[in-house]
Amino acid sequence: MALSVVILAAGQGKRMHSDLPKVMQPLGGYTILEHVARSAAALDAHAVYVVYGHGGEQVQAAHGHLAVHWVLQAEQLGTGHAVMQALPKISDSDVLLVLYGDVPLVTPATLKHLTDAAARGELAVLTAKVPDPKGYGRIVRDNAGRVTRIVEEKDATAAERWVDEINTGLMACSADRLRRWLKDVNRENAQKEYYLTDVIAMAVADGVKVEGVLAEDHNETRGINDKQQLAAAEKALRKRTANELMLAGLMLRDPRRFDLRGELAFGRDCEIDVNCVLEGKVRLGDRVKIGPHCVIRDCELGDGTEVFSHSSLDGARIGAKVRIGPFARIRPETELADEVHVGNFVEVKKSRLGRKSKANHLTYVGDAQVGSEVNIGAGVITCNYDGTAKHATVIGDGAFIGSDSTLVAPVTIGPGAYIAAGSTINRDAPAGELTIARSKQVTKTGWTRPTKK
Ligand code: UD1
Ligand code: CA
Repeated sequence: MALSVVILAAGQGKRMHSDLPKVMQPLGGYTILEHVARSAAALDAHAVYVVYGHGGEQVQAAHGHLAVHWVLQAEQLGTGHAVMQALPKISDSDVLLVLYGDVPLVTPATLKHLTDAAARGELAVLTAKVPDPKGYGRIVRDNAGRVTRIVEEKDATAAERWVDEINTGLMACSADRLRRWLKDVNRENAQKEYYLTDVIAMAVADGVKVEGVLAEDHNETRGINDKQQLAAAEKALRKRTANELMLAGLMLRDPRRFDLRGELAFGRDCEIDVNCVLEGKVRLGDRVKIGPHCVIRDCELGDGTEVFSHSSLDGARIGAKVRIGPFARIRPETELADEVHVGNFVEVKKSRLGRKSKANHLTYVGDAQVGSEVNIGAGVITCNYDGTAKHATVIGDGAFIGSDSTLVAPVTIGPGAYIAAGSTINRDAPAGELTIARSKQVTKTGWTRPTKK
């Protein structure tokens, strides 16, 4: 049986108090909607539809990379109404899986239980037992334990509110049946909305078996309506991600204090200390060590490289056995070759440092091509900006740049050149020679201090 998926994502998310549509709120480095779309993509459905409304253009623009069809729900009249907007595009013989754009942590394995039940001719609804059911629709079962209907909290009696089995909102059923039932759904409820959940009682009335599939882990079914629930989902995702990474061999000093907001690939025996945030695409070779309090985004780090505490790395290609930090800042388009050392309070931007080059203290290297085995002393600055444009600095292999030198770009320091400390270099310095560009030190013998009158 062919499978179509509809993701409901038209709601504004009033409870977020945000200008960003709810489904665009960030969760583990992706939007909430992207998590749902990724789970859907893993199901081998022949089409995925996203029902959008609030912040339509913004939502579509941010998700242009997803292989989904967009269906407009101009007015948000409820979840049942939202599904109806997509139904004209879906053929009667399909199984239809309904996902909520604000229930992002559900796994493909769980969804498979729903679609399997639907393929058997049942209406499957995903439920969960939760510690605090407040705000969710409740699953009402008869004495034999059969699901009879779903009641929204706002419409529930006091007794029904005691039920701790909640509706996750996710369901699967044959498209023709859903189409039939949804035609008859009305707005006679507390919110004056067309509730998708009303089809449950209709199925029961029609003698169609309603299968309440209880989620193994209620964390999967968390709905996100406000910032508190967003943080709770982030926490659940953090735990899940850390567990997966550790089982794959990554050593996390404390899984509760590690945030991955994107994708991480790693080799053998890598270690990450506490309070690190990894974003975008990060790739670690073997035996990479990352100290505490580091932020790393879109970087590649080679075998045996070590990043010491409080360092920030963004958009860099870093070779093997490199040492970075503590307190280093590596900015985009930086390339550090093998065995480079970049120490404390050093900033490197859009530069390449060749093999075994060192900048160990208090330095700014920007728009520079640095050869191999170059020693950059403490306090060296490449003056790459003249107020209007950026200029390049080129430093040849084996050069020695004395401490507190300023290299006024564009400028070239030849291979093996030796720049005396405190020099201001604004013309090219020849290879293999000592260049001194500072005023001569003078001692006035016999000079006496002025005295106060
Ligand atoms: C819904 C369920 C509730 C369930 C909860 C689980 C209904 C009537 N209620 O309540 O039983 O416990 O989810 O998280 O279904 N949406 C649209 N168009 C609309 C209305 C909503 O696309 O007209 C989308 C929203 O963007 C959201 C999803 O549907 O992604 C759910 O809507 P929401 O208003 O958050 O429903 P809940 O009150 O959470
Ligand atoms: Ca919701």
